[in-house]
Amino acid sequence: MIQENVSLKNYNTFGVDVNAQFFAEITNLQELQQVLDFARTASLELLFLGGGSNVLLTCDFAGLVIQLNLKGISVAEETEGHVLVTAQAGENWHQFVQFCLSHQYGGLENLSLIPGNVGTSPMQNIGAYGTEIKDCFVHCLVLNLETGNTKVFNHEQCRFGYRDSVFKQEGKGKYVILEVTFRLTTKNHRIRIEYGAIQSELTNAGIVNPTIQDVSRAVIAIRRSKLPDPEIMGNAGSFFKNPSIPAAQYDTLKQTFPQIPGYPGGQLVKVPAGWLIEQCGWKGKQIGNVATHELQALVIINKTGKATGQEIYDFSAMIIESVQEKFGITLEREVNII
Ligand code: FAD
Ligand code: EPU
Repeated sequence: MIQENVSLKNYNTFGVDVNAQFFAEITNLQELQQVLDFARTASLELLFLGGGSNVLLTCDFAGLVIQLNLKGISVAEETEGHVLVTAQAGENWHQFVQFCLSHQYGGLENLSLIPGNVGTSPMQNIGAYGTEIKDCFVHCLVLNLETGNTKVFNHEQCRFGYRDSVFKQEGKGKYVILEVTFRLTTKNHRIRIEYGAIQSELTNAGIVNPTIQDVSRAVIAIRRSKLPDPEIMGNAGSFFKNPSIPAAQYDTLKQTFPQIPGYPGGQLVKVPAGWLIEQCGWKGKQIGNVATHELQALVIINKTGKATGQEIYDFSAMIIESVQEKFGITLEREVNII
């Protein structure tokens, strides 16, 4: 079950070629316990991977990489009009969304085509097109790596924020998420088409009263039109978070940069990082093996397929410096740097 000196090139969507000292693919809890025992005995550092679509591996990993391949979906009726759907960590996220749509379960359609696995979705509270998983999330079952006990984290305990949760903060490295439960609608679905280009995509298709399947198709079309397919071009989606800055700072910037977009929320204004990066001249720019995507400056790509993780990291540092210099805003990486 445990392999030695394994290339992780096919286990991260950047396609970065680094080695894991030890590697194990896990399909059930018993196997997980066995490899955890092995790691404990040998005092090995652990790295869990789902789909590898939100990591940047900057060097070889001296420890045990565990790919969680736990599979299974179960459904329980909760109340009239709702179901509770539980998926194991290793279920592919998009296939899970498609499963829900094929059963007429609504709530996750705006999150169609996000790469990665279900078990990782609470980590950064994945979001797109006006929804985040926190909108449907009920609880997740985790294994505490220190005590070896399982524990259920409810919505409140997960402390979801924008691309954030307890699992990225004080729970980082402490828990492995084993399964996630969502509360979905079976009728009277809430159709959310206010955000971004969904409405125009539906209008172009001549759809007036969209179903949850129509929304999913529209989201898929929009995503395909501007995000690079990791199968073809290595990337991890948005490399940085969209920064929120104080309203006063935004107003000052607006005097110098009248075009600067901003989305107010309380005392803060969220500014699209893609716009900031583009304004600094980085859109489509290539240095060595790394570039930003021509259609989306927020996405860093492994342009030649030969980039090292360190090269990608250094490229991202140059972007942070440019944006800081021009706008006085510090971009924060969204991708997990390993
Ligand atoms: P991985 O990259 O395998 O892991 C991410 C982190 O979680 C790592 O630190 C890892 O160690 C840890 N981890 C993995 N599994 C577990 C587990 N079971 N328990 C605890 N920790 C674990 N994200 C969005 O939110 N919205 C988007 O619209 C979006 N679009 C994207 C588009 C593209 C083209 C790509 C490549 C990525 C995009 N992402 C987006 C980012 C990514 O898809 C999500 O963050 C996804 O949830 C990552 O899942 P994964 O299984 O690949 O995680
Ligand atoms: N923009 C530019 N130039 C660019 C890119 C963007 O000017 O090169 C500006 C445009 O004004 C555009 C705005 O930025 O209107 C927003 O762009 P977009 O709609 O593409 O969304 P985003 O803010 O760049 C976020 C998420 C995505 C998510 C989409 C759709 C973050 C960090 N990213 O991107 O998530 O899919 O919205 O909801 O919040 C991911 O997390 O990996 C990811 C892809």
